Amino acid sequence: MDYQHIVVLTGAGVSAESGIPVFRSETGLWENHRVEDVCVPEALVRNPRLVHDFYNTMRRNLKTKDPNPAHRAIAKLQQEWPQRGGKVTLVTQNIDDLHEMAGSMEVIHMHGELNSLLCAKCGRRWFNDEDSSPEDICPHCKAQAVRPDIVFFGEIPYYMDEITAALAACDLFIAVGTSGVVYPAAGFCQYARAQHAVCVEFNLEKSAVATNFHYGLYGKASQTVPAFVKHLLITGQLLRTDEEI
Ligand code: APR
Repeated sequence: MDYQHIVVLTGAGVSAESGIPVFRSETGLWENHRVEDVCVPEALVRNPRLVHDFYNTMRRNLKTKDPNPAHRAIAKLQQEWPQRGGKVTLVTQNIDDLHEMAGSMEVIHMHGELNSLLCAKCGRRWFNDEDSSPEDICPHCKAQAVRPDIVFFGEIPYYMDEITAALAACDLFIAVGTSGVVYPAAGFCQYARAQHAVCVEFNLEKSAVATNFHYGLYGKASQTVPAFVKHLLITGQLLRTDEEI
């Protein structure tokens, strides 16, 4: 059976082999910072320069990173599945642009993007791949209220209507490199499965929500995802291993 609508959800693990650190490291720090210093709305009030500089550094580092085989396999699936009459919706929690660099045309960035700025006053968002600062002026409303376009803890992710509609319509749900501890993304599998989608996770190890999936493929995403996509594109069937849940 060919799957009509595939939803792919990616997390930090898909970019790990491109040299971008995952969030939940053993130190509990994200790029040497406490999450509450750089990733909550209060941080912007308390120390806006620290927040801007943190994302400036990350944005500059991003320019030195390349997509890996997992990003490229997902882009290939997105490009070739429609030729079989299907559709692929790619949702990422990542703020990097490695899916785009790999050739994915439509990427839903539910947690925002490093290469984007947001005006806290008028709500407009615009492309930006240079450093930003708390003194920046919004090009639209001229307010001094420019911030990194990142969805902080406590804020509502972007595109939730679009994502919910895709999950409701999909018959295959794939999660790649996400720990399953941050909601609402961690609940997507349960929702898709309730709508009768087959659910598969790709991770180094079982995620916090592994039992919600039908099965998992465990190992480096740069190896498991290309193998899965190749098999799916050739046979229309899902690649399985002994490590089914
Ligand atoms: N291949 C497959 N999976 C991997 C790889 C790899 N090479 N490397 C790491 N992983 C897995 C880890 O085992 C872990 O389960 O990727 C997952 C990364 O988890 P997190 O660091 O928690 O990242 P993520 O799930 O994307 O975090 C969700 O939390 O901090 C917020 O907004 C931030 O979008 C982020 C959200």
